[in-house]
Amino acid sequence: MTDAVQLEALTKTYDDTVTALAGVTASFPAGSFTAVMGPSGSGKSTLLQCAAGLDRPTSGRVVIAGTELTTSGDTAMTKFRRLRVGFVFQDYNLLPSLTVEQNVVLPLRLAGKRADRRRVRAVLDQLGLGDRLADSPEKLSGGQRQRVAVARALITEPAVIFADEPTGALDMRSAREVLGLLRAVVHEHGGTVVMVTHDPAAAAYTDSVLFLADGRLAGSLRGPTVDAVAERLAHLGDAAVAA
Ligand SMILES: Nc1ncnc2c1ncn2[C@@H]1O[C@H](COP(=O)(O)OP(=O)(O)OP(=O)(O)O)[C@@H](O)[C@H]1O
Ligand SMILES: [Mg+2]
Repeated sequence: MTDAVQLEALTKTYDDTVTALAGVTASFPAGSFTAVMGPSGSGKSTLLQCAAGLDRPTSGRVVIAGTELTTSGDTAMTKFRRLRVGFVFQDYNLLPSLTVEQNVVLPLRLAGKRADRRRVRAVLDQLGLGDRLADSPEKLSGGQRQRVAVARALITEPAVIFADEPTGALDMRSAREVLGLLRAVVHEHGGTVVMVTHDPAAAAYTDSVLFLADGRLAGSLRGPTVDAVAERLAHLGDAAVAA
């Protein structure tokens, strides 16, 4: 299997004092759904932001679908990111002044590409939003807003979608819908998704879990179940304490 994302020895230091990432090497195969878990402050969001080209690591390499982001200039990185990387945020990040449809096509417009209206509508139909195209996102529920955000992340057919606690603000039913959707993106459409979550039930939707502690990898778990994930999380601090 080819890797959608390769991270090599990533470090990130803030203000020369806070080490958010202390050397993370990991790869995410194309067509995989991975959860990233760990205590608050362990570097999960920093990892995602650096991997997605939203932020620059202090050192190390990020390679997405064979293209090294870390040696690209800012303009090239932004251009690449718009077309090849999707990002879903906990708080949706939709623009209230745009309609649902306009929000979804925004990445294409920013990249100077024409939006295929039929495809846009087909994607929104699939996500159960076909009758909300002209609405402002402000009229939608949290679960519906997050589905719009997933549609926006999908529209360019990116090499990878990163999602940072995409269900963190949702009730259980909406969370399940969004998780089912992300799983379908991977297992039915061949996409690649890397998702940060605190919730073992959300992690159980994925193929494998990477654990982070203090900015370092602290193990992984294939075929995660809710109980196995909860058990590992409960003992994550142990290795660090023993070291
Ligand atoms: N912009 C910033 N400036 C300074 N320090 C930062 C910045 N962003 C993150 N940090 C620090 O880096 C470390 C890792 O933060 P990060 O947001 O990646 O953690 P996280 O695992 O996503 O936590 P949470 O589960 O609470 O979202 C923390 O110590 C945090 O305080
Ligand atoms: Mg975070």
